[in-house]
Amino acid sequence: MNWLEEITNLRNYVLERLGKVQDRKELDELKLEIFKRKGKLSELKKFFDILKDEEKKNFGLKFNELKNELERIFKEKERQTTSREEKFLDVIFSFPSKKFYLGSQHIISLEQKRIIEIFAKLGFSAIDSPEVVSEKDNFDYLNIPSYHPARDLWNTIWIKKKGLLLRTHTSAYQVPYLKNNFPPFRVIFIGKVFRFEATDRRHEIQFNQIEGLSVVKRPEGNLGELKGVLKEFFEMFFERKVKIRLRPSYFPFVEPGLEVDISCFCKNGCEFCSFTKYIEIAGAGMVHPDVLKRGKIDTLTFQGYAFGCGLERLLMIKYNIPDIRYFLSGDLRFIKNFS
Ligand code: PHE
Repeated sequence: MNWLEEITNLRNYVLERLGKVQDRKELDELKLEIFKRKGKLSELKKFFDILKDEEKKNFGLKFNELKNELERIFKEKERQTTSREEKFLDVIFSFPSKKFYLGSQHIISLEQKRIIEIFAKLGFSAIDSPEVVSEKDNFDYLNIPSYHPARDLWNTIWIKKKGLLLRTHTSAYQVPYLKNNFPPFRVIFIGKVFRFEATDRRHEIQFNQIEGLSVVKRPEGNLGELKGVLKEFFEMFFERKVKIRLRPSYFPFVEPGLEVDISCFCKNGCEFCSFTKYIEIAGAGMVHPDVLKRGKIDTLTFQGYAFGCGLERLLMIKYNIPDIRYFLSGDLRFIKNFS
């Protein structure tokens, strides 16, 4: 038999067998029979040893032609004949599944964590503080007696049990913390506060505050340090340069009391800062000696400063959020922006 005949025979043989192939398994078997190392195709290679130069060349051409053709035909057939397992997987993967969304932490939780990290860099530890507090801790111990007009500043949610309420500010934990800890310390309390108010885009019945409290040996921990700490914090939080402006103000539990402003994002004044180039951002001051005394702190040796600001307000400024009510709305269109 000459080589051309053998080539033609093999080709016919494969085509005939392929015509009868039923499934992937049979196809794989046939493929192996033809292409394996000592299979039908490589059997033909014997002619490379037998033939003379001129004919060897012709044979080589035909051999490669056949090999390429068969490879192509097998590939095509493989595409048509998928195995039973593959068909099964095909069904599963192509079956339309239910859409589901991966959950994530809420913007408030994420940012609380960030703020705690920033304050850790500044030497402040984050302390857990209760949301249900006594009237004394929230008001009296902070120089806000029941007849004091400053109580009008906060519309309180009272708890039926007498003397308990939902804290109206995180300052409520100042005296309990002072009582139970020896200075020096620098701490922050961060968490929910509650005010019984009509809601609008700037007011919400529940929001979060960040309270800083530092008590260290005199003359450290003075107003200069307070200003520096606030500047560092706001620059890290807003990720930009910030100028701090302190204005005299009144909170009964600090003396002197300060209103803290930061420079606005704009250069020459804008609607947001009412063209003043500064935005009001926090309350602060030196802890009132009465408050320190109630916390059993020796006021001759130690002095303290405190500051407090609203977390939502910070975030509204940072991310340009127009309405505080989005935070508690549960609206996924809002929440997903920050996941
Ligand atoms: N507790 C004050 C408020 O709720 C803020 C504040 C904290 C002011 C600490 C001075 C010092 O507005």
